[in-house]
Amino acid sequence: MGFIADSLSRVKPSATIAVSNKARELKASGRDVIGLGAGEPDFDTPDNIKKAAIEAIERGETKYTAVDGIPELKQAIADKFKRENGLDYDPAQCFVAPGGKPIIYNAFAATLNPGDEVLIPAPYWVSYPDMALLCGGEPVFVGATMDDGFKLRPEALDAAITEKTKWFVFNSPSNPSGAAYSRDELKALTDVLMKHPHVWILSDDMYEHLVYDDFEFVTPAQVEPGLKDRTLTMNGVSKAYAMTGWRIGYAAGPVELINAMRKVQSQTTSNPTSIAQWAAVEALNGTQDFISERAAVFKERRDLVVSMLNQATGLVCPTPEGAFYVFPSCAGCMGKTTPSGKVLETDEDFVTELLEAEGVAVVQGSAFGLGPNFRISYATSTEALEESCERIQRFCASLT
Ligand SMILES: Cc1ncc(COP(=O)(O)O)c(C=O)c1O
Repeated sequence: MGFIADSLSRVKPSATIAVSNKARELKASGRDVIGLGAGEPDFDTPDNIKKAAIEAIERGETKYTAVDGIPELKQAIADKFKRENGLDYDPAQCFVAPGGKPIIYNAFAATLNPGDEVLIPAPYWVSYPDMALLCGGEPVFVGATMDDGFKLRPEALDAAITEKTKWFVFNSPSNPSGAAYSRDELKALTDVLMKHPHVWILSDDMYEHLVYDDFEFVTPAQVEPGLKDRTLTMNGVSKAYAMTGWRIGYAAGPVELINAMRKVQSQTTSNPTSIAQWAAVEALNGTQDFISERAAVFKERRDLVVSMLNQATGLVCPTPEGAFYVFPSCAGCMGKTTPSGKVLETDEDFVTELLEAEGVAVVQGSAFGLGPNFRISYATSTEALEESCERIQRFCASLT
């Protein structure tokens, strides 16, 4: 028996972090590398939010807080769900964690028994399956295709649910595809879920505020109130408020689940950082004006990247509704040979050779459960995006 737990043997380190590390190494060795792997806004945290944190320090808000968040933040979360999503939650049903990730981890740790299935539509955010595994559950994947806009078909959802399905993980807008479900598309899925009362829904709404072209964001408990009693609606300040480093995520759901999550958090991290919680109160209660200003910048970048990638030989890039990712197919490059003589057989070959040849770091789609595709994060400057798309075009044109 080795020292490291057996349960860790099936868990993969994050592929997106691996790409960022590789890009950093190449940069350190003097190569000119553009990293399009990271999933964080390039914008700074707005000043009013920083100021709230500074004031919290000066007031001495530097002690332990309630494990699941200060009352002011839980109230701000309840108000946010009411104002933006039409959802009524009591502050006692709201929960704060040190980031969106621990919300999911706490929920799985609090509910999964060995053999319980967590149903995850592919392409998926890399952490869902590994967090399910860490908590003793079984990730089960149900695929969507690019032809369906990377969105799950209701009949595929219905067919994938078994007696053992404990959670269905829903993520719209999606990391990695950027796909977001319209009200009708989501209703078709919630109709299926209504037929399976043993299945709980984890709705990861992290990219709620990053939708374009007047797209209306909706979340399952809002579209089908009949599901609210078995839905955990989660969100966070990381992406919408450019606060990735502050580590605040939040959720609302049935009290029994929230209490169980609090028990997990009380014996692991305890409360999220007190100062970051006060910053999050300002994020949720303060001005929201910059959200639409920033979304307009992201939309321009999305349009630029989609258009330039579709001009690259062998790539097809759909236009996503939201988030800050595109997820083009590189099927047209498979079987081709690079100038250095390497035959591209997988999307992993494609991203490795692209990084070698042109110094552009992207993440292979197979890491997210669908290939041959790759993910580009366009949360970086327009100049860097133009330059990297030119390099991708040159790389594709060099293949024979
Ligand atoms: C879909 C999705 N959910 C949750 C998270 C976690 O966010 P946080 O940084 O707040 O833990 C991310 C971050 O990349 C994400 O892409």
